[in-house]
Amino acid sequence: MVLEIKNICCIGAGYVGGPTMAVIADKCPHIQINVVDTNQERIEAWNSDDLTKLPIFEPGLDEIIRRTRGNNLNFSCDVEANIKKAEMIFISVNTPTKEKGVGAGQASNLKFVEVCARKVAQHAVGHTIVIEKSTLPVRTAEVIQNILEAYQENNPDIKEKPTFDVLSNPEFLAEGTAINDLENPDRVLIGGQNQNAINALSEIYFNWVPKEQILHTNIWSSELAKLTSNAFLAQRVSSINAIAAICESTGANVREVARAIGTDSRIGSRFLDSGPGFGGSCFKKDILNLVYLSRHFGLNEVADFWEVVVDLNNWHQHRISRIVVKNLFGNVTSKKICILGFAFKANTNDTRESAAINICKDLIEEGAILFINDPKVIPEQISKDLGLNESKELKNIEYEKIFSVSGSWCFERNILKAVENADAIILLTEWDKYTKIDWKLVEKKMRKPAWVFDTRSSLDKKEISNTNLNLWVIGEGTN
Ligand code: UDX
Ligand code: ADP
Repeated sequence: MVLEIKNICCIGAGYVGGPTMAVIADKCPHIQINVVDTNQERIEAWNSDDLTKLPIFEPGLDEIIRRTRGNNLNFSCDVEANIKKAEMIFISVNTPTKEKGVGAGQASNLKFVEVCARKVAQHAVGHTIVIEKSTLPVRTAEVIQNILEAYQENNPDIKEKPTFDVLSNPEFLAEGTAINDLENPDRVLIGGQNQNAINALSEIYFNWVPKEQILHTNIWSSELAKLTSNAFLAQRVSSINAIAAICESTGANVREVARAIGTDSRIGSRFLDSGPGFGGSCFKKDILNLVYLSRHFGLNEVADFWEVVVDLNNWHQHRISRIVVKNLFGNVTSKKICILGFAFKANTNDTRESAAINICKDLIEEGAILFINDPKVIPEQISKDLGLNESKELKNIEYEKIFSVSGSWCFERNILKAVENADAIILLTEWDKYTKIDWKLVEKKMRKPAWVFDTRSSLDKKEISNTNLNLWVIGEGTN
């Protein structure tokens, strides 16, 4: 018998919960979906009439929200009432790396997951399927199950005891392509013990995902597969970035090397683009989780193996700042540098773990004056990420005065203003709009000798080589 699900609650209206529930609502008009979050500002943004004000930018999301919101998709802060109504609850809250205590710097902080599990235990009615959607350390499902059971032990007088099944259903969406990833997933992974619960969740995905693409595993394999998937992808990026450094020293070209190896069907062509270093909320966190888990089981060599992927990424980001400084005669103090892109990749407003953070901090530390441009990231976010005191953020720019304030930054929406009198431009995010820059015009505005550093190898090299701008490209070096 398959349990029929009519009401779903998703706890956490972030980068995972929001788009995932929007697509489920779109594909399953017969299911009522309530997305809840304790962050009122975020919920208001999800409910905003102006769809450009949604809390996350994701191509195609606004259209789906237009179709579903107010019909079978609702956003609210009323966590308890929506838990009560639901037959299925997705936990999609954030799981940041622990900053203090045991496992600090590596293990995930499960406090938000734990709060959710306690809320579910307290308010759920009847039989409820609880699904972990956030990326979680292996064996978190056990923690959730224990909390759900312990609540009943602590409250023996509850008359109608709720019952629970816990499943793992990790999300593989990548930001910027989330809607397509959700609508056409390579696979959907469901880990669990109870076949009825697994069938009930599979039934939802059958509305748009072919049966053979829905994989069932035990719960620990599902949790570990998610971490492993991200670790493998991150490892590919670190591998190609390591090769980029060799290319720059030897005269090889990393794009040519990537193409040559990527045509080997055993290797494949994706995730071989050398860049400024991987960012995003998952790669580093998930690898550090693997490292923590391995050390916990005494597998130190395994832990060391994965840790190097993160170490290489850090080294690579700082390597880029050093290359910039070296080419600007070893000195960037009071020099204006234009930063193109702050998001960790194109087509998202997310800056979590963005390579831009380390690179900008390094340059500010060296005394540079950064004019930062990004089509979607807001200046308030950059301010938080750079974590500098107010005086380092230039406000109400007076261009004549600006060069007296070394080691500072400001946000500049207009690219031509951002490059005016700049000594260098550093492209950090591969936004499409940067490929359309008029380099002849830019050249006229910059102070000579002027440099362009393309850390994504995505700018129009031919156009730039028709100017007097000096060009450095990742994995190629100086052209
Ligand atoms: C990743 C996983 O892809 C996704 O399956 C998981 O659910 C969440 O983590 P995301 O972090 O959104 O998704 O972005 P992804 O496209 O994987 O890129 C991660 C980082 O690697 C970005 O900084 C990106 O610029 C970088 N990258 C990616 C490269 O530098 N080169 C590449 O070839 C690919
Ligand atoms: P992710 O990328 O994993 O989706 P986000 O940080 O974008 O992470 O979103 C997680 C969301 O979960 C945040 O909006 C946060 O307010 C919400 N959240 C965290 N704890 C709780 C909780 N106990 N109840 C409801 N929402 C929560």
